[in-house]
Amino acid sequence: MRSGSRLKAAIGAAVVALTVGIAGGAGVIAQPDESRDRERVRDGRDSDRDVERRVNRLLSRMTLQEKLQQITLLPDFKVNEDEVRRGLGAVLSETRPERIRELQTIAVEESRLGIPLLFAFDTIHGFRTIFPIPLGTGASFDPEVAYDDAKYGARESAAVGLKQTYAPMVDVSHEPRWGRIAEAAGEDPYLNSELGVARVKGTQGRDYSDEERLVASPKHLVAYGQPEGGRDYDTTDMSEHRLRNMYLPPFKAAIAAGADTAMCSFNAINGVPGCGNHYTMTEILKREWGFDGFIESDWTAVAELRSCPPVNPSDTQPECGHGVAADGPGAAALALNSGVDSEMTSTFFRDFGAQLVSQGRVSMSRIDDAVRRILRIKFRAGLFENPYAPYLPGETEAQMMKPDAVAAARKAAGRSMVLLKNESVLPLDPNKSTAVVGPLARNQHDMLGPWWGRGRDQDVVTVFDGIDQQNTAPTTYAEGCKLSNTEPPHTDPEGCQSDAGFGEAVTVASAAEQVVLAVGESREMSGEAASRSTLDLPGRQEELIRQIRAANPGKPIAVVLFSGRPLALEDVISDMPSLLQAWFPGVQAGPAVADVVFGGVNPGGKLPVSFPRRLGQVPIYYNHEPTGRPCNPGAKYNSRYRDIPSCAPLFEFGYGLSYTTFETSGLTLSSSSVSRNGSITASVNVTNTGSRKGDEVVQLYLNDPVASISQPVRRLRGFERVTLNPGQSRRVRFRLDSSDWGFYDNRGRFVVEPGQIDVYAGNSSSAEMKQSFTVR
Ligand code: BGC
Repeated sequence: MRSGSRLKAAIGAAVVALTVGIAGGAGVIAQPDESRDRERVRDGRDSDRDVERRVNRLLSRMTLQEKLQQITLLPDFKVNEDEVRRGLGAVLSETRPERIRELQTIAVEESRLGIPLLFAFDTIHGFRTIFPIPLGTGASFDPEVAYDDAKYGARESAAVGLKQTYAPMVDVSHEPRWGRIAEAAGEDPYLNSELGVARVKGTQGRDYSDEERLVASPKHLVAYGQPEGGRDYDTTDMSEHRLRNMYLPPFKAAIAAGADTAMCSFNAINGVPGCGNHYTMTEILKREWGFDGFIESDWTAVAELRSCPPVNPSDTQPECGHGVAADGPGAAALALNSGVDSEMTSTFFRDFGAQLVSQGRVSMSRIDDAVRRILRIKFRAGLFENPYAPYLPGETEAQMMKPDAVAAARKAAGRSMVLLKNESVLPLDPNKSTAVVGPLARNQHDMLGPWWGRGRDQDVVTVFDGIDQQNTAPTTYAEGCKLSNTEPPHTDPEGCQSDAGFGEAVTVASAAEQVVLAVGESREMSGEAASRSTLDLPGRQEELIRQIRAANPGKPIAVVLFSGRPLALEDVISDMPSLLQAWFPGVQAGPAVADVVFGGVNPGGKLPVSFPRRLGQVPIYYNHEPTGRPCNPGAKYNSRYRDIPSCAPLFEFGYGLSYTTFETSGLTLSSSSVSRNGSITASVNVTNTGSRKGDEVVQLYLNDPVASISQPVRRLRGFERVTLNPGQSRRVRFRLDSSDWGFYDNRGRFVVEPGQIDVYAGNSSSAEMKQSFTVR
């Protein structure tokens, strides 16, 4: 459904249209209309026909070696002038403006055909002005926040000469042990789709040849968010219906919104690695969705197609792994023939391409197709007309951390925070003495989160400084303990192992009228290669919380939790009189925390991911399928843990409190039945029943109670974050069609089955208000 948010009104909605095909059994097989799916946003300055003509003309002049160079993508530390002179395609992670200009000058002036380089970087939640981590943006339930993050990230990146970002990451995940859950919008495909689309639009604008824009690259195709045991890069066994209904939709939405590049993933699904997967890359992305851009491999994912060690070592490149290719040539052939167009970091395409073509293992037309895709994007990006950054190297610093970007980062951080508990503690009084305590209280480094781009610790305003700036009474500080910022294999992975500072922390807290307790993870504990085997608050922080609480009964204590994943807080939640989930908020951490803690900003975020009671419940997610024995804590023979007297997580998806109260009521449907290709509107009232202005996220969920394949008990299909004054009401409308109530079956077919559909509306995934309609 399309909720008609302001963002969409401003920049145009991605249209997901379905046309009905042939009837099959009880259901109807519907063919998604791909031509209408791909809402092209370029303004026609270079019409597609012109671009194709230029691509073909250039391609016809290229030697095979030049083509192989063009499909090679090297990191900053591997690139050299000779590679560029020979016609290298792209460079990643080089962000020094003078070096970018230098390399581009060589590409344009000294390579035989003068094809410009494409410079790429992981601008994930900001380049220099770091925004909240994407999981936090997910919690905002606000596409504008994602749009702004992407827009300012693109502007700062483009200023140094970058033209592609490896974002948005749209990997749905039900695995909080996995450190990369921090990098996308959590456990729901619809939320990831909506925010992914906003990020694509923020990154690319209407035309990514614009000097403030980049081409976006949704990643990681696909189902990288579901590694076994939560261990990064691990294998995934994936049914077709799960793949299609849960993991592919955000990619499809991002591509439909105009994303012109994509990245294949490290992990294997059903034994087939992401960068050796013909089905996902060529059959689905390129053919089914009509994607005409290029796919880059993840890092050394091509080399990792080999077994470990390679059966036929044919080169010195060390990476290896999946065991679906015997050697370098085999890995290159598999990746190319599966659909990879650009090889990142390893160089098997370049090294073995000619041999593979002469042996007939890779066709010349496949090489040409890969080159064509890359050139097409370079033309669309305007690189042939404007190969250089819009600023001279000496001017770029002035483009960073501009006031509008910093203000947007502060707003984004405030909107991402989720109030999980509040026993009349918050908001605190800015006229009372405040102790700011805990390992993250006066911290810059960790606030940036696990992808900090070119963010600098010294740009971060700490929680202490943010509180101090807004507090008219004295602000005091004690660290309590230190978190660890080391990386494996040099580990003290948790930190806060010593209670030596607890006494001082208790003393400082006791001397103040109110306390802000800043606890959580260090930034090294989430992100890539940062899976954890526990979801506890690291080290002895629970003890720190208990001691401060015990020494200060009845005193307002605001616990502010920073993390890149949901933590398991069952054992400590009763010792927290309030709890504000702040994720990693970015450069404006302190002001944003102070805004919320003192009530200048009323928290309105909602959880984009379930918070388990304890680790053993993982995976626990709201959009699960029913079982033959649904969980019932009052009985034995059903799907439950014998030692947990509840079926629910500690905090469910979509949950979050406010300093005011809201009521959602009056759910109505525009009709009681609908033809399978018709549409229906669900409307719901939301009223601010409290005494402060605030935000509520109205949420709409569907359930198909009888289907040929068990359907998730709830699926989010609409949300809107509304701001209401005390007493004010709004009627929110959601338009639903077969893209909302249909589903993909285990043969990859989109089916629309007749029967009842239940609609739930409210302010979390446990919403009870219900209406039903019938699909005819
Ligand atoms: C990550 C990607 C990233 C790439 C380039 C890889 O290790 O998996 O997400 O885009 O590195 O930095």
